[in-house]
Amino acid sequence: MAATYELYTLRLHSEPFINYSYLIVDTRTREAAVIDPAWELNPIRSLIASKGAVLKSILLTHSHHDHTNLVKPLVSLYGCDVHISRDEAAFYSFRCDRLTTFEDGQQIRIGDTAITCILTPGHSYGGACFAAEGSLFTGDTLYIEGCGICTTAGGDPEAMFDSIQRIKTIVQPETRIYPGHSFGMPPGCTFDQLEERNIYYSIDKKEAFVSFRMRRTNTLFQFQ
Ligand SMILES: [Fe+2]
Repeated sequence: MAATYELYTLRLHSEPFINYSYLIVDTRTREAAVIDPAWELNPIRSLIASKGAVLKSILLTHSHHDHTNLVKPLVSLYGCDVHISRDEAAFYSFRCDRLTTFEDGQQIRIGDTAITCILTPGHSYGGACFAAEGSLFTGDTLYIEGCGICTTAGGDPEAMFDSIQRIKTIVQPETRIYPGHSFGMPPGCTFDQLEERNIYYSIDKKEAFVSFRMRRTNTLFQFQ
């Protein structure tokens, strides 16, 4: 069955960050959702306009600033709803206009397109991934070549291990990953390809995972 949505990837900058935001447009209704609106409002507005899309929802994988920076201006412009997990909103006291919270397994509909919210704590207390047909949007839980750090408030490497194991049970080899950052291959590769590149994904013992994730590194994002 063909996917019911079109997917557009935005690579957005604000020193020192490079983030990926995504626009999902339901093919029939043109209703749309933005995942993790990061930086640079104009490219997002232009894309929405050029695709004839009607922005209905903002989906947040977690509350970190580089994933939520444009929530306020987008809500002001489009009057769209903002979705974040209940755990994430509660732990970090995340607030904005038109905020609504979801539970693990809840579905959000964008026209004919169903998006399933999957709680994946570890990088943040109530982080989530979003699954649409053939695609998984992973925020800072899982990157193509790594996974998010677990050292900031609410982070937990044991929870991260469990979340990655859970992702393995959800995806197919041909499922495509769309993370919040990417440091090598661009977003959209398959889990088949990810498996060959991602050490964190391949470690199957929790203790080994935790000590590897929590080792001292001196890179800014500590993703590898
Ligand atoms: Fe983050």
